[in-house]
Formats: sequence, structure tokens, C-alpha cells
Amino acid sequence: MNRKYRRIIIAGNYKMNMLPGEIRAYAESMKTLVPRARWCETVICAPFVDLTAGLKYLKEARISVGAQNMSEYPRGAYTGEVSGEMLRDLGVKYVIIGHSERRQYFNETDLTVNEKVRAALDLGLHPIVCVGESEKQRELGLTEAHINYQVRAALSGVNEEQIRKVVIAYEPIWAIGTGNTATAEQAGEVNRYIRSIIRSIYGARLARATSILYGGSMNEKNAFELLAQPDIDGGLIGGASLVPEKFAKIIMAANQE
Ligand code: 13P
Repeated sequence: MNRKYRRIIIAGNYKMNMLPGEIRAYAESMKTLVPRARWCETVICAPFVDLTAGLKYLKEARISVGAQNMSEYPRGAYTGEVSGEMLRDLGVKYVIIGHSERRQYFNETDLTVNEKVRAALDLGLHPIVCVGESEKQRELGLTEAHINYQVRAALSGVNEEQIRKVVIAYEPIWAIGTGNTATAEQAGEVNRYIRSIIRSIYGARLARATSILYGGSMNEKNAFELLAQPDIDGGLIGGASLVPEKFAKIIMAANQE
């Protein structure tokens, strides 16, 4: 990480875990576990129905709230969907877009990811855009080609003003929920590559200021090493974010001298 040039973000992704009624106790634990002085922004991306409780209680633990998805449409007859404007109205700041689980199980394509990113930015939300290769793609040596396409597709039509609000998360699919973390070198290398793509689109100054996270079996044990990589500006954490003691340690790792 490089605190001088960019925001360090430690973001939890609850996925489809945590009941609304469990948030208060979680926030209380985090309040006692994490000291006040912090050099990173902490975020919890919660299920839609948890957002109200999250905004109420997590704020007291100095944690911002994000959603895990939003509709690409502004409003209308889209039963079961939640719009970006609804999120903004609640006071949500971040929204994960294009998580591999959404691409894999809910048919999200690079096109819908791009539509969602632009819809989020038009509303002033901060999208956390997820990209990452499968195990097969890595084996075949296609990691960079795949990441290059995903990043460029997600950011198509995003202007220089808007890119300042975008956070990228590199999440290799083979590392998610498997315990197989990418090594710090592997993750650092792809994050550096992502920054080079941003540089080629937006120039060196904006690339240097873009926060690029790593996600995939990040935990309280490997966080320090991952965050020591110059191009890893934080984490997107699934399983370990559900346990306050573990999540707090990851936040602490981002605050080491
Ligand atoms: P795990 O930390 O559980 O591997 O999940 C990572 C992830 O998908 C975060 O978005």
C-alpha cells in the first residue's frame, strides 16, 4: 500500500450472511476492538436488508456502509431490484459491482457491469469494481488478457473526473472462499498490472491515486504481507469480515507504522 498517494480501504463483504438483528452486536465488538486513530477507511458491504441497521450502528464504529450490488436501471418496473438512487437516499457510500459470484450465478456480463458502474458514478456512489481470472485462465496464461478486458470493459465511458471515485478489487476466482490466497507476489503483480491499465487510459497522476484492493481468502494472518505490496491498497474480505476479531486484525495490519 502507498498511503501517500491513495486511500487505503479495508472492506468487508458479508455476502449473504449476517441478519439485520446481528449488526448491532457486531458494531459494538468492532468499536471496542479497533482503536480510534486509523489510516484506512473501513467499509462493510452488507445485504440490502441490513443497510439501515448498518448505517445506524456501524457508523458508531467509524465504519462506512456499502451495498453488494445495484440495478443498472434508474427506476421502473424491475421487480425485485434495488436502484442506485435508493442506496444513495439511504446514505450508502460504496457499492460492489461485478463480483465474480454475481457474474457466475446471476449472469452478470461485462456489459451489465459497465452499465452499473456508470449508473453508480452518475449518482455519486463509489463503485468497488471486481475483476479476476479463473483457475483455468491462470493455467492457460490468460490472466493479463482477461484482466485487461474486464477492466477496460468496466470502465468504458468513465471519465477522468469519475475515475477518482472508482475502487478496483482484484479477486482471483480460485482464491475466493477456498483458503488458497494468491501469494503476495502474485497479487501484487496483478494489481500493478491493473494500475498500468488505468495509467494507459487516464494517465499517471490518476493511476497513482486509484485504490486497488485485493480479495480472496484474505485473513488476519496474511493481511500484513499482502498489504506490504506497493500496489495493494487494501482488501475486500469475505469470510474473515464476519468475525470482528479477525476483521479488526486486518484493519490493524493496514495501520501498521
Ligand atoms: P473470502 O475472503 O471469503 O475468500 O471472499 C473474498 C470475496 O469474495 C470478497 O468479495
